[in-house]
Amino acid sequence: MSIFLDAPWVPTSKKQIRKMLNFAELKPNEILYDLGSGDGRILIIAATEFNAKAVGIELNAILVAYSNFRIFLERLQDKVHVKWGNIFLRDISEADVVTMYLLQQTNNKMMKKLKEELKPGARVVSYVFTFPDWEPTKTDKESKLNLYTV
Ligand SMILES: C[S@@+](CC[C@H](N)C(=O)[O-])C[C@H]1O[C@@H](n2cnc3c(N)ncnc32)[C@H](O)[C@@H]1O
Repeated sequence: MSIFLDAPWVPTSKKQIRKMLNFAELKPNEILYDLGSGDGRILIIAATEFNAKAVGIELNAILVAYSNFRIFLERLQDKVHVKWGNIFLRDISEADVVTMYLLQQTNNKMMKKLKEELKPGARVVSYVFTFPDWEPTKTDKESKLNLYTV
């Protein structure tokens, strides 16, 4: 396991998160995984506005601690969990929807794991970056969103 981050922390705006989750058609009680969950903002919006369960995987321990503090303040401990770890090493097989805002080279490395581990029908929404060898189910060029279905 490398401690080198596969993407810097650049938080997504709340407006963009709502677009992402609507684009993925996230439904109540579905399980969302945010790979590289930063300060937990996608998880919190998924739980509070979409009534989903949400799991984040984040390598930066300070961001994990901050996310857990926010989850505690919002009383979301039953619905939102953040795991400290590397997205390439954690099990993501229970996800119905995966959100990603990483880097192009990280997406390239991640595609194999997504296809092997996720269940058929799981949706992956990637902000800004794409999966070059994977045909998207839909794209929104203006919002820089790409949706892939396993
Ligand atoms: C561009 S930020 C996106 C944060 C959040 N998903 C959002 O959209 O607001 C990417 C995040 O991925 C985390 N990260 C980078 N490489 C990682 C890895 N290998 N495992 C887990 N987290 C990683 C970074 O620490 C950072 O918080």
